[in-house]
Amino acid sequence: MKFRAIKGVQDILPPDVYLWQEVESAARQVFAPFGYREIRTPVMEFTEVFTRSIGETTDIVEKEMYTFSDRAGRSITLRPEGTAPVVRAYVENHLYRLPSPQKYYYIGPMFRYERPQKGRFRQFHQIGVEAFGEDDPRMDAEVLDMLRRFLERVGVDDLVFDINSIGCDECRPVYREALVDFLSSRLDSLCADCRRRYEVNPLRVLDCKVRACTELRRDAPRITEYLCSGCSRHFGALKDYLNLLDIPFRVDPGMVRGLDYYTRTTFEVTSESLGAQSAVAAGGRYDRLVEEFGGPAVPGIGFAIGMERLTTLIRDRHGVAEPGPSVYFAVVGDDAAGAAYKLASEMRKEGVWVELDYSGASLRSQFKKADRLKAAYVFILGEDELARGTVRYKRLSDGLQGEINRDDAVGFLHAG
Ligand code: HAM
Repeated sequence: MKFRAIKGVQDILPPDVYLWQEVESAARQVFAPFGYREIRTPVMEFTEVFTRSIGETTDIVEKEMYTFSDRAGRSITLRPEGTAPVVRAYVENHLYRLPSPQKYYYIGPMFRYERPQKGRFRQFHQIGVEAFGEDDPRMDAEVLDMLRRFLERVGVDDLVFDINSIGCDECRPVYREALVDFLSSRLDSLCADCRRRYEVNPLRVLDCKVRACTELRRDAPRITEYLCSGCSRHFGALKDYLNLLDIPFRVDPGMVRGLDYYTRTTFEVTSESLGAQSAVAAGGRYDRLVEEFGGPAVPGIGFAIGMERLTTLIRDRHGVAEPGPSVYFAVVGDDAAGAAYKLASEMRKEGVWVELDYSGASLRSQFKKADRLKAAYVFILGEDELARGTVRYKRLSDGLQGEINRDDAVGFLHAG
């Protein structure tokens, strides 16, 4: 019986996995000086954690969650995103008692039952961050600064930052009314989904990708024109701070994002070279969410980067380096094989990647193997070298040859 992976999920294999590790370690390095610490939450939560926060009438909750009953009949969901679980953990563990702001990052798999296509998977991975306890627009700009620094570090620093403000509980209802008013006379032109969205969650119409709906939206009222004075000042200050930090951005008043928990600032980082699924990272502010989870009134802001999309971009631009062993032993004779076996163990203890042949193959095929493995050096060990206490080496990149004492093997590699 041959098995296949489930549709929309994938294996991450070497050498690609090296790229993933590099990206993850870049994130840890870039986030540390901004004060972010890692948080690991479970991959599953009670379903309400997501329905209550992401919103009952969003695409994610309506059609994309992996939800099941456990054996005790409780409704459990594989996390479709990381913000709700982190907020749940923040409230449950009273992390709001710690000095503000509290900043966390996470790296891990998320699950959405979406139609798989290029850049869209059912198990995908995010690097996400969440900062709690600061509503100053300088925090919004700081978060975007960190995202910019991270993208620079991994070699994709030419992406477009789109920002928007979707207001607060005070001004969004006013905008909502204006939008409903606008849409009500144009219902016939909307797609079937949007006619339903119009009833239950009209702001979602702004998110629809159907051509007719995007065209109709062009004349729709813009949320940025309906912001209350507090939100308007906040958004204005954010733009000032982004300019101060030399972060180029565009304002996209049509960007509402597919999750209901956002307030004020939202943003997306896109790359046209990714095709239809162009968002590499996205996020925003959620100043009411901690309270909705039963915590105190603590504002929050964060973003998540899609690892599959980001690594695609990096791979397309820079390729993926495939590391090989530092040394491949080519041995002649049983005694030499024994000595190489022992030396390999000692060299590995020192952190040197060593490979060797156990099949007794010819010297020629051992060299071929070294080549295929992209070894840096072949260490040759036969009776003569054994007697002299040496190994001969050949550097495969340029054919340089020589002989060294076996005791100096590690030092030689570190020097060269
Ligand atoms: P999101 O926009 O749903 O936001 O996802 C963030 C990123 O995850 C997307 O921009 C994309 O790169 C990636 N992504 C989403 N769905 C898929 C998929 N099916 N396949 C591959 N990649 C995908 C959130 O998840 C929010 N929790 C972000 C956030 C954090 N907001 C505040 N804090």
